[in-house]
Amino acid sequence: MIRKEKITFLYQETDDPAELEPADHELLELARKAANNAYAPYSRFKVGAALRLESGKIILGTNVENAAFPSGICAEKNAISNAVSNHPGDKTVAIAIAAMTDEGPTDDIISPCGNCRQVIAEEESRNGNNIRIILSSRNKIRIIEKGGDLLPLQFSKNHLRAALR
Ligand code: THU
Repeated sequence: MIRKEKITFLYQETDDPAELEPADHELLELARKAANNAYAPYSRFKVGAALRLESGKIILGTNVENAAFPSGICAEKNAISNAVSNHPGDKTVAIAIAAMTDEGPTDDIISPCGNCRQVIAEEESRNGNNIRIILSSRNKIRIIEKGGDLLPLQFSKNHLRAALR
């Protein structure tokens, strides 16, 4: 008999930034500011990511586009690559993401693309901890307790184990 399985997860949402924990609020403001540094002449969609390390250090990232489209890089991926490259031994504990169009912050909450979800999941498995995800639009904030919730049934290093033996 074929079984049916269900995956659910809880997340939090608020319209009021004052309800956020101060650390989350700070990270969100930094992500919004970072979006102004994005290089996004092709999509005109500027994304900022602010990542907090366990040590308290904050790393920023923006999307960096390219005339050869697949060469462009997302904000989250840039922030995580920076953290891994420059802060070995430290752990990513939270990441806030915000996006701006020419008209200002987006009306809809921006969510990491599939590729970035995979990168966030790898960062969680590399360090063995959850990464708190703080997503935002112009007037809403969504908090997800762990990146893995955004990528259920994910491909991970466990699947490579047989080949690495
Ligand atoms: N982008 C990000 O930087 N992060 C996301 O989570 C979604 C999309 C960028 C990629 C591209 O430069 C632009 O936004 C439009 O897709």
